[in-house]
Amino acid sequence: MKTIIEPFRIKVVEPIRLTTPEERRGLLSAAGWNLFAIHSDDVIIDLLTDSGTSAMSAEQWGAVMRGDESYAGSPSFYRFEAAVRELMPFRHIIPTHQGRAAEAILFSIIGGPGKVVPSNTHFDTTRGNIEATGATALDLVTPQAHDPDEPYPFKGNIDLVRLERLLGESADRVPVVMLTVTNNAGGGQPVSLANIRAAAEIVHRHGKPLIIDGCRFAENAWFIKCREEGQGSRKVAEIVRDMFAVADGMIMSAKKDAFANIGGWLALNDDALAAAARNRLILTEGFPTYGGLAGRDLEAIAVGLHEIVDEQYLRYRVRTNEYIGEKLLSLGVPIVRPVGGHAVFVNARQLLPHIAPLNYPGQALAVSLYELGGVRACEIGTVMFGLKPDGTEQAAEMDLVRLAMPRRVYTQSHADYLVEVFAEVVQRREQLRGLRIVSQPTQLRHFTARFEPLP
Ligand code: F0G
Repeated sequence: MKTIIEPFRIKVVEPIRLTTPEERRGLLSAAGWNLFAIHSDDVIIDLLTDSGTSAMSAEQWGAVMRGDESYAGSPSFYRFEAAVRELMPFRHIIPTHQGRAAEAILFSIIGGPGKVVPSNTHFDTTRGNIEATGATALDLVTPQAHDPDEPYPFKGNIDLVRLERLLGESADRVPVVMLTVTNNAGGGQPVSLANIRAAAEIVHRHGKPLIIDGCRFAENAWFIKCREEGQGSRKVAEIVRDMFAVADGMIMSAKKDAFANIGGWLALNDDALAAAARNRLILTEGFPTYGGLAGRDLEAIAVGLHEIVDEQYLRYRVRTNEYIGEKLLSLGVPIVRPVGGHAVFVNARQLLPHIAPLNYPGQALAVSLYELGGVRACEIGTVMFGLKPDGTEQAAEMDLVRLAMPRRVYTQSHADYLVEVFAEVVQRREQLRGLRIVSQPTQLRHFTARFEPLP
């Protein structure tokens, strides 16, 4: 059959409250035109994030009942640890309540003023946690990633030449090298196995550890299977093991590719670093066999990790986003190509060329998607990245809007509705106006800034 169907049936449903454009205009004004301040029951289709928004399976809910809530030595922890290790064979697996807690623990130990932490592209919380220690977060993504129309299959790759140069010139300042799979901030683009291995070789030659941010590891492995020479006949789980076999540790948000609503971990091979991380964990998260999670959460993650490497699921997952991407292109909506694993990224700067980057074309598009259709998406551009640590503002390299698809939540008719909302935005695009910021914090401003539309 030609149609790739949702490979699941629906047993439990959540109603969606349908609002009107008039209602939503009032809600936007009360929220300071910041979609993070909108209540989710006022959203029709919520594409703000794919993080923590997955529908759990019957098996996961069953496992939740098995959760053992003992403070120390819970069997739920050992099931979690075994499930992680089956895919990612690290010596120390340290649970945290979500990915950024793992980042905060790692960088509180190895960060600090004068240090430089390179990656393909750091996610915003990773960057924030590095910069909070006084260190510099450096993005070294492959040059093809800067062109949204370049169809290169591995636009998440790290630029090996610049990595080699950085380590050659200032290895003493670099505590670790990171790789984000898939590269979320760069459009959900995958990193090839060849690039992971080549990066590991360079990093290890300079005596440094490679830490993978593995949030969307299964989607990345699926792209490797589909796109990388010699990988097509291999099992996704085998590819996953190869991706992590050359790394020295990982940070993970189980809210993505583990189908969990909360959770994460820090994994390390280095005994001394792991001991320091566990000491820190006890202060901030909890005892090392629960780390800020309930036993039931650890159980949900263990089952989720098993389900996420299912190839029927991954085929459907990636196809959903491609389907939306194809329809948007046919409406003339510019998107980042190829379509990434967890989201479609719309090139708002190109769609709305009459809105200057410092008037936030991405935010303007996200606001109009909500106003016209009740769709909530996320700006990834000048609002998210434009405020520099010294307080100055610069246009981000791109102004994108991310349509992040929750896992196993929406159906094809939701996707078709989304495309219809875009058709209306396209029709009105010349009337859309930029915004200005009325108030903002000094860091991670996109979460709490308040805006005002320009006249
Ligand atoms: N790294 C990447 C690549 C991420 O995408 C995220 C979260 C994190 C780390 C932090 O994990 O949320 O569990 O603390 N990304 C979400 C998103 C929030 O919407 O992309 P967390």
